[in-house]
Amino acid sequence: ETFGRTLEELAFLFEDKALADQAVHAVEKAVGLNGDTRSGEKHESVELQEKYEVQFLGRGQFLIPGFVDTHNHAPQWQQRGLGQSMHILDWLDNVTFPNEARFRDPEYARRIYASCVDGFLQQGITTASYYGSMHAEATKILADLCLEKGQRAFVGKCNMNRNAPDYYRDATVESSLSDTQDCIAHMRRIDPEGRLIKHVLTPRFAITCEDALLAGLGEIAKANPDLPIQTHFNEAEQEMSFTKTLFPTFDNEADLYHHFGLLTKRSILAHCCYVSEYELERLKHLDCGVAHCPISNMTVGGGFMAAPVREFLRRDIKVGLGTDSGGGFSSSILDAMRQALVASNAREVMSQGKDKGLSIDEVFYLATLGGARVCCLDDKIGNFASGREFDALLIDSDSLKPGVMTILEEHDTTKTIFDKFIMTGDDRNIKQVFVQGRQVKSS
Ligand code: GUN
Ligand code: FE
Repeated sequence: ETFGRTLEELAFLFEDKALADQAVHAVEKAVGLNGDTRSGEKHESVELQEKYEVQFLGRGQFLIPGFVDTHNHAPQWQQRGLGQSMHILDWLDNVTFPNEARFRDPEYARRIYASCVDGFLQQGITTASYYGSMHAEATKILADLCLEKGQRAFVGKCNMNRNAPDYYRDATVESSLSDTQDCIAHMRRIDPEGRLIKHVLTPRFAITCEDALLAGLGEIAKANPDLPIQTHFNEAEQEMSFTKTLFPTFDNEADLYHHFGLLTKRSILAHCCYVSEYELERLKHLDCGVAHCPISNMTVGGGFMAAPVREFLRRDIKVGLGTDSGGGFSSSILDAMRQALVASNAREVMSQGKDKGLSIDEVFYLATLGGARVCCLDDKIGNFASGREFDALLIDSDSLKPGVMTILEEHDTTKTIFDKFIMTGDDRNIKQVFVQGRQVKSS
């Protein structure tokens, strides 16, 4: 199969034909070909091979845009699968805070974060929005590692100065803010143009931040309008009712975070499991993005309810997928796609058919272009449209290799091969991973 041809067959990924055509041309451009390559001597796949060392081997291979993980906790890498079925605040107190506190040790941080970044690249996650721990030193190490290993990443020092144990919280509002400034400066230094790395302002959630801390972060956001912002938003009943007792003057979290200047077009709001009509309108109006994390929502969220994604799509509220790795059990965005599909089917039943379940194409959109939009990176990544950077995965769906993916058959079309990969493939089918044209998956 040729590269260009495969993309044309994947036209269903794009809503209209014009976009699909654009995508085919974009890839040609990305590999340094000009418009009339089809009549040229060299085949596109040969050019790709030479320029990026893409190694096509045989049947059932195709390129897709890299996956975007819009919500991910790097210091929870080694606690995946623990505390499943606990409610959110109990899980934080008993499992997460004691674990994250270990990142006070830079050597430990370096070892775990190296494994974490390698692990996500292995899964085809070319872009990740990471929460770090509360430690500035460890967070800078995480940013260094993403840059060194070539992952596109938002990396945030986690702000938390209350409702966390003494051994794991920011000492004062001032120290929390100055550590944040230190991390911002570090990331601007190591990657001045933000080609790969950006600091993301990361108030853990309102429960762990005093008013003055939220206000201070809002000020930093205002002074640095290029920086993304992330927090947890309307995740679970336990969390929402405690937030109300801490901030009785606000009726809802949209008003709360907006009051402190933390809701902008660069805000990435994790979960949004419960959103009223009023909040839906606010999120749309403020152009905030949603990180849908269907795995953790049904394992440690405690709400046991995932976000109303169909409603977000209907209103064109930006939405992507998060592994929320740490919460939940999986670092695979393929798993998150499948769980998004399952959760949406539950939503269809609950809404008596009003909110149709998501299709495979739609969960693929969430994992790629949807996530790129949430991160305000859709001018650079998310699909192969004109002018995009080469963040791509070479998928090998060859059934003869060991693996659990559904075997290919003679009559399979590109679409059925694609569906088999999305629903039953795993990282063994992700042969090569490229970020900005650099091969980043270590074999
Ligand atoms: N809310 C505050 N912190 C966390 C976290 O680490 N994980 C999840 N899922 N929710 C949170
Ligand atoms: Fe989370």
